[in-house]
Amino acid sequence: MTQIPHPQPRPLVVRPPAAPLTGRVRVPGDKSISHRALMFAGLAEGETTIEGLLQGEDVLRTAAAMRALGARIAPRADGRWVVQGRGLGRLAEPDDVLDMGNSGTAARLLAGILASHGIHSMMTGDASLRGRPMQRVIGPLSGTGAVFAARAGGRLPLSIAGRADPRPLSVRMEVASAQVKSAVLLAGLNAQGETVVEEPVPTRDHSENMLRHFGASLSVEPAGTGRIIRLAGRPRLLARDVVVPSDPSSAAFPLVAALLVPGSSIVIEAVGLNPLRTGLFTTLIEMGADLDIANRRTEGGEPVGDLMVRASTLRGILVPGDRAPSMIDEYPVLAVAAAFAHGETRLCGLAELRVKESDRLAATVALLRANGAVVRVEGDDMVVAGAEAGAAPGGGMVETRMDHRLAMSAVVLGLAAARPVAIDDVGFIETSFPDFTLLMNRLGAGLSA
Ligand code: S3P
Repeated sequence: MTQIPHPQPRPLVVRPPAAPLTGRVRVPGDKSISHRALMFAGLAEGETTIEGLLQGEDVLRTAAAMRALGARIAPRADGRWVVQGRGLGRLAEPDDVLDMGNSGTAARLLAGILASHGIHSMMTGDASLRGRPMQRVIGPLSGTGAVFAARAGGRLPLSIAGRADPRPLSVRMEVASAQVKSAVLLAGLNAQGETVVEEPVPTRDHSENMLRHFGASLSVEPAGTGRIIRLAGRPRLLARDVVVPSDPSSAAFPLVAALLVPGSSIVIEAVGLNPLRTGLFTTLIEMGADLDIANRRTEGGEPVGDLMVRASTLRGILVPGDRAPSMIDEYPVLAVAAAFAHGETRLCGLAELRVKESDRLAATVALLRANGAVVRVEGDDMVVAGAEAGAAPGGGMVETRMDHRLAMSAVVLGLAAARPVAIDDVGFIETSFPDFTLLMNRLGAGLSA
């Protein structure tokens, strides 16, 4: 399969810009939706065109894996991607190990597809992904009859003997995870009968939306605080064009930078506003951010709007744990914002941060402490003391631990800090936000290339 090279570490030193951040930008396509678009299009019959696909390394891994399973996938000169699907149940056995790089979403969702086809496959990833728990998908997916063999602790590399006639699953989610939910739904596609997923806490519903878009029959009903999703097996999935909105999780970085760099005023256009993704925006507004959402509309079936952001004085708040699924990837950059706020910010219920691209709870604490901020962990909560607690943050070295969001959070910290922030490696930013440096520099960040 196509190998995506791992370049040498790219260190960076970040200083505050000479002038406020200004301008209008559009961040790249949503990572979650991009992975799903390639997978569903690859399983459908016919030709799908995808507009706005994120061309980050994580998504290119999914493209390479779906190609290895027999889908034809190529970018067109106009930037759209074209996928010729294989048809549900008709995937080819890959002739080599599938390398999912840094991407947990690619690995976990694909496991659902591989378990429910009569093929034998093997999957691996980079050192970060090989350390992440896969048992959370192996457990439920084993109910299909597929046989998994993983390393100790359910870690990659993983071998999957899939089933051409998978049993339908009925699963109550133990962790709030859209990846696990999606893996179960993807496995349910090729199973005869009904697949049922009960999630006590709602998580991002891009898989549900896209399943409907491609013609599957799916119902979602409220159940207590959560939902029950029922999917009818063996639908006829037909190619349907997809428009990918800009990623709210990527918008988070220029957004927080503009809030923190005095005098800034920027617009981030056409950002995805799926209500299961917008916890950061709610939180920042509660903290006093001057953030307006203008021009709300629907693009490609998802709500989008333009974020109008002006530099603000933030105050510390308590962020409730039940909000975590709607902002799970945004905590590192929120913690940076909290270090510049007045008063203490308590971020509750962060257990899942320990199993992201790095242990993001520990890594975010280390990032802040290295730069003089005062922060502590109490159980699964992170408590960030505000600006008056210590010296104005900055002056430290940040270890990014193969984690793109830590790297970008460190850049945001450096733009707002009193002293330069050194970062060991910004290379992993390519996984989700190619051209991050270029975009930030268009706003006036003055990052060295
Ligand atoms: C994702 C779900 C989240 C998120 C990840 C993308 C998805 O992971 O952190 O970046 O696309 O389904 P979990 O499902 O593990 O919470």
